[in-house]
Amino acid sequence: MDASHDPLAALRIEHEEIRGILNKLEGYLKKTASAESDEDRNNLINQLSGITAFMDKDMEIHFKREEEALFPVLGNYIGIETGPINVMLIEHNHCRDLSAGFKIKINNYRSDKNYKALIDAGNSLSQLLSEHEDKEDHILFNMAEMHLTQDEKRSIMEKILAIK
Ligand SMILES: [Fe+2]
Ligand SMILES: [Fe+2]
Repeated sequence: MDASHDPLAALRIEHEEIRGILNKLEGYLKKTASAESDEDRNNLINQLSGITAFMDKDMEIHFKREEEALFPVLGNYIGIETGPINVMLIEHNHCRDLSAGFKIKINNYRSDKNYKALIDAGNSLSQLLSEHEDKEDHILFNMAEMHLTQDEKRSIMEKILAIK
């Protein structure tokens, strides 16, 4: 099954896209910390603001694809209320909270100029989201490979494509 038919391959590709954005996020955060003028810092913070748009849209779609398409079917084998899927669901909500907090800190910066607060918030989000996708790639998706049938994979892929 190639990535256009295999939901796990498709979700792994989305993880790569997320890692690309997190690299950019971390780069902008470092530059924001060392910016030598307010103007430079303001420009960087505008870039960071663009990244929050990715989180609102693409991270959210990715999470929904896992929550609504993959997890319910995989949950038939490994459970949802406890164990790894439960941990992943908690981490999704934690990422959503951190992302909302990061946006608030960016908006606050425009009046309070507290760039350290937004850097801390951005780094917390980046760290959690990156560790989260690593766990899925290395643990959860391997469990899914072991359990899911071809038919289940096909129907998960259909659901994934309907979530956008
Ligand atoms: Fe996830
Ligand atoms: Fe994921």
